[in-house]
Amino acid sequence: MKIAIDSTPSVSSARAARFMARQIRSNPSCVLGLATGSSPLAVYAELARMCRAGGISFAGTRTFNLDEYAGLPPGDARSYRRFMDENFFEKIDIDLSNTRVPNGAAPDLDAECAEYEAAVRAAGGIDLQLLGIGANGHIGFNEPSSSLGSRTRVVALSQKTLSANARFFGNDPGAVPKKALSMGIASILDAKKIVLLAYGKGKADAVAGMAEGPVCAKLPASALQLHPDVTVFLDEDAASKLELRPYYDAVARDIPA
Ligand code: GLP
Repeated sequence: MKIAIDSTPSVSSARAARFMARQIRSNPSCVLGLATGSSPLAVYAELARMCRAGGISFAGTRTFNLDEYAGLPPGDARSYRRFMDENFFEKIDIDLSNTRVPNGAAPDLDAECAEYEAAVRAAGGIDLQLLGIGANGHIGFNEPSSSLGSRTRVVALSQKTLSANARFFGNDPGAVPKKALSMGIASILDAKKIVLLAYGKGKADAVAGMAEGPVCAKLPASALQLHPDVTVFLDEDAASKLELRPYYDAVARDIPA
């Protein structure tokens, strides 16, 4: 795991966007795994800016999102489908039919998950997976105790996640859907390359556990230690509990600023 630490989220996001842009330019027909949440917003904005300026094109790319709330139809303003359309897809030159988010309103959610997993495989797998991390160490919606061998499936959201995501549901944790469809940890580890973003003090414990703790289901992101090509972009706050900082800084000199 390579860890690049920058002074602020905006400096880090710009660096992460340039990192992703290089991958997309080197493989214009790549398959992207995408994430929601506040962490990737500035990365999406910067990639969209590059696209408008003609420096990058998504015309040949296909995308698969990590997760979606169960019960929210794609048109719901709070759905991750809408989030992606508004914050990214409508601002770039991608063909919308090449963008997939699990359908939270599918009549048979288990079948939707199995079909999603098969669709990723049929696309040749994910070349570059973008991730955020929950304060409890979740990736996608793989909550603590998720099997490290899990595949795309219906998951129950933890109380901590319901509270953290209440801000998108009128600050009412009771209004947040109790379940979601999420790519599994093993599905995520299948990606050829992974980029993870984490910003703010609230992520410092999860980040330290992810990078330096034992690999364990209690902190799902720790499974990323098993992947050979993970690059983590942090601000100083999210990095504040890491013990091996000097080593990360030495290694990160190879990651262009
Ligand atoms: C959500 C998403 C995750 C995301 C995480 C962190 O619950 N399912 O994919 O990484 O929470 O979100 P944020 O970036 O807003 O802190």
